[in-house]
Amino acid sequence: MSAPRTVPHHIAIVMDGNGRWATRRFLPRVAGHKQGVESLRRCVKACADRGVAVLTVFAFSSENWNRPQDEVSGLMELLVLALGREVPRLQADGVRLHFVGERQGLSERIRSGLAQAEAATAHNTRLVLNVCFNYGGRWDVAQAAAKLAAQGLPPTELNLDRAMALAHVPDPDLFIRTGGEQRMSNFLLWQSAYSELFFSDRLWPDFDEAALDEAIAAFGRRERRFGQTSAQLGNEAAPAAPRQQTA
Ligand code: FPP
Repeated sequence: MSAPRTVPHHIAIVMDGNGRWATRRFLPRVAGHKQGVESLRRCVKACADRGVAVLTVFAFSSENWNRPQDEVSGLMELLVLALGREVPRLQADGVRLHFVGERQGLSERIRSGLAQAEAATAHNTRLVLNVCFNYGGRWDVAQAAAKLAAQGLPPTELNLDRAMALAHVPDPDLFIRTGGEQRMSNFLLWQSAYSELFFSDRLWPDFDEAALDEAIAAFGRRERRFGQTSAQLGNEAAPAAPRQQTA
């Protein structure tokens, strides 16, 4: 039997806790999101160094529009700033960027920034970084179903899978949420059917390399059965044969 893979191929993260990080320091919430970008940069590098092939992060949900207007515009500004500053670094580190989510609701300036960043990094192969922005798991299922209907294709699992916004990567192996909450909040509802879940109490800006290693180590201890049994996977000793009665 081959040794179990201990480094996940694909990690997905709900980067929660930026607001609390800022509030505890008497700073505006947007300062927490700025620090969140720093944490994301560190995490991307750490994932690439550890051999993770795909990192998918939740940067702005379909529901985040309901936040106070100044926070929403702060996040949009931060995205534009981060694109300008980070793309050359991602380029140097061999990271390919994909933005995943509904682009219709975004300004023309942001849409062209996303397209340019994707084009600039399109040939990189070390790590795929999917930034989910204006994304929701339910939106993704609905848009995939609509795409199939428009093509006259039946909504089979395979067809839906191919029509989903993350069809370019395999499903996440490890799903991490920081910030102490234990829920999925409409992130990757379809793709995380068999992901291992890991909840960290660290706020996202404090999620460092050691915290990532803790999550990866916990993943390495999980038994992934995908509906099978331990015995089928060869991980469980067969029950001892009944002892022969001797006269
Ligand atoms: C959740 O924390 C975090 C977000 C809604 C935004 C995540 C964004 C980043 C980490 C920065 C990267 C963003 C861009 C634009 C590239 P929260 O605000 O809900 O924190 P709280 O639970 O403490 O209030």
